[in-house]
Amino acid sequence: MYLYVLLACVSWVLESHSAPMKIVSGSTQDNHTAVCAEIEKELMADNVTYKGSFERPQNTSEELCYGKFIEGFISTLNNISTKHNDWHIEKVCKNMRQLTKICPKLKLTGHNCITEKSNFSKFKEALQSVVISIEGWKSCKRIKGVL
Ligand SMILES: *[C@@H]1O[C@H](CO)[C@@H](O)[C@H](O)[C@H]1NC(C)=O
Ligand SMILES: *[C@@H]1O[C@H](CO)[C@@H](O)[C@H](O)[C@H]1NC(C)=O
Ligand SMILES: *[C@@H]1O[C@H](CO)[C@@H](O)[C@H](O)[C@H]1NC(C)=O
Ligand SMILES: *[C@@H]1O[C@H](CO)[C@@H](O)[C@H](O)[C@H]1NC(C)=O
Ligand SMILES: *[C@@H]1O[C@H](CO)[C@@H](O)[C@H](O)[C@H]1NC(C)=O
Repeated sequence: MYLYVLLACVSWVLESHSAPMKIVSGSTQDNHTAVCAEIEKELMADNVTYKGSFERPQNTSEELCYGKFIEGFISTLNNISTKHNDWHIEKVCKNMRQLTKICPKLKLTGHNCITEKSNFSKFKEALQSVVISIEGWKSCKRIKGVL
């Protein structure tokens, strides 16, 4: 058990030291397309299906609600990665947080942002769908009067 925890910490340290080197060379961190692509890659790499009930958007085309939906995704992902020690999910979680920092558009909030309970597969599907949609945005800056 101790060895396992130790190894987990070591790989975290290695990762947190190697990550900034990649960032310095490019602008991945402030490029929403690149961040979204990375989220998709990590989601694909993660083949675990968690049991339980997960909150997901009812309508993933509701772009005005993305800010609110992403808050929910992050909270759920954070719970999963803490509970199950899942590195892919943890990376997705980090990248989602980054996305909210670089995308002012995600601060917009609609009023009718309906969520529903689902299994993990449907949750993941909704998450992928929202990320793919954001990836397709030309800009994630907020334009007055236009989404
Ligand atoms: C953003 O990332 C995408 C995909 O990695 C890349 O094609 C594009 O050139 C990048 N844009 C900028 C401004 O760095
Ligand atoms: C999930 O992927 C890992 C390698 O990434 C593999 O070792 C494992 O067998 C896969 N599990 C399932 C259920 O496909
Ligand atoms: C989902 O939201 C989009 C965008 O607001 C809307 O055009 C569409 O009709 C909605 N779909 C359903 C099933 O409510
Ligand atoms: C995450 O866990 C906290 C504490 O257990 C809980 O209050 C919260 O509702 C959970 N969030 C989600 C989205 O599951
Ligand atoms: C998840 O739920 C959908 C419908 O809500 C169902 O079709 C699917 O088989 C379920 N997947 C799992 C792994 O339970």
